[in-house]
Order: sequence, then structure tokens, then C-alpha cells
Amino acid sequence: MKSIVIVANWKSNKTVAEADSWLGSFKSQVPDGTIILAAPFTLLHLLHERKSGFELGAQDVSPLGVGAYTGAINAQQLKELVDWVIVGHSERRKNFGETDDILKQKVFQAKNAGLRVIFCVSDETETVPEDADIVAYEPIGAIGSGQSEDPRASNEIIARLKEKTKVPIGLYGGSVTPDNVASFIQQPAIDGVLVGGVSLDPTKFLQLIHNASNA
Ligand code: PGA
Repeated sequence: MKSIVIVANWKSNKTVAEADSWLGSFKSQVPDGTIILAAPFTLLHLLHERKSGFELGAQDVSPLGVGAYTGAINAQQLKELVDWVIVGHSERRKNFGETDDILKQKVFQAKNAGLRVIFCVSDETETVPEDADIVAYEPIGAIGSGQSEDPRASNEIIARLKEKTKVPIGLYGGSVTPDNVASFIQQPAIDGVLVGGVSLDPTKFLQLIHNASNA
């Protein structure tokens, strides 16, 4: 069985009380694999104190360092609480105007602080910084739509992305569910999945992890 990586991306969801309740229901261990929970900044302290069965990630990092940058959360601050950060998600590119240059600076800051980077792309033409640790392929039409991509098509794209970028771990993201996760995990080039909506519900997320582990 291959070692799998499952990333939960909570996006802009959950209050402290809701995260507390999720933690109360989430008891998981993947015998050969890693679960990474990428949570909003406001929940990272709580999750850091209480994490069990998962590693912690942030969903963004400042492209700038420490200093007079009002509202920014820098990589050194994050490193106290998390091991991972997502960079390049299509929702950030689209809604926050993040360009390749900004994303490159974010990866630079993250790596400099010792964070590991999950870098998202929505197609093969997007530039992947060479020191990303994980590349996540997320076709835009598949995100949050209930219409996941054909696993064989994703496998081919992820295989080419890994080959081209030399990033060793490739994930698929976009409407992954407990029912379809095995079909992605079974593909030879796909090392895991990035999960949005389903990760918000601990019961469904545990089912997804169980089905992925048994794929
Ligand atoms: P989804 O989101 O699982 O809700 O489609 C995936 C993502 O955007 O990371």
C-alpha cells in the first residue's frame, strides 16, 4: 500500500466553537499516511493545542516578512503553530489577485521559515516553484461543484506535473467524497487528495479517510 496524504482545506469556515466540536468527533489514524488540516488563522492556536491524528497547516502566508505590514500574517508567526501552508489555491488567485510573482514570494517566505508548501495549480501551464513540497492539481470546474474530474485524466496530468516540476508528491483536489476517493487513490501517480467541503463534517471526513486507506 502506498503512503497517502489527505489535506483538509476548511477555507473560510468555522468559528472557535465549531472547530472545538469538530475536534470532539474527529479521532483518526492513518496507518500509512498523513492527514493535514489547513484551517483559518483564527483557529490555528486552538488546533495546535489540541491536534491529534493530524498535522496542521495554514491556508495562506504573507509574501512579506516581519514588519510594518498591517493585517499580514508572516511565515515566522505561522511556524510557531503549523508545519504546512497552502499556496496558490485558485480561490486566492481569483479573489485576491495573487499573481505568479506574489506566489513565488510566498513560497520563498514559507520555505525560509521552515514551513512545507502545498502548491495548488488548476492546470499544467501554471508555474510551480521548484521548492514546493507537494503539488495539488485542482481543476477549477471540479472545485465545490460536485463534478470531480475523471481519475484517469487527473492521473495523467499529475504524472506530468510531478515529472516536470520534480515535486515528489502529487494530489488531486475537486469534489472528492467518501464515494469517489478510492478511484483517485488507486491511480499510480496520485499520492493523495485535497478535500474542501467534505472535511467540514468530521463523520464524512473520517469515512473518506477510511475509504482512502482501504483503496
Ligand atoms: P471541494 O474543494 O472539495 O469542496 O471541491 C477542494 C478545494 O478547493 O481544495
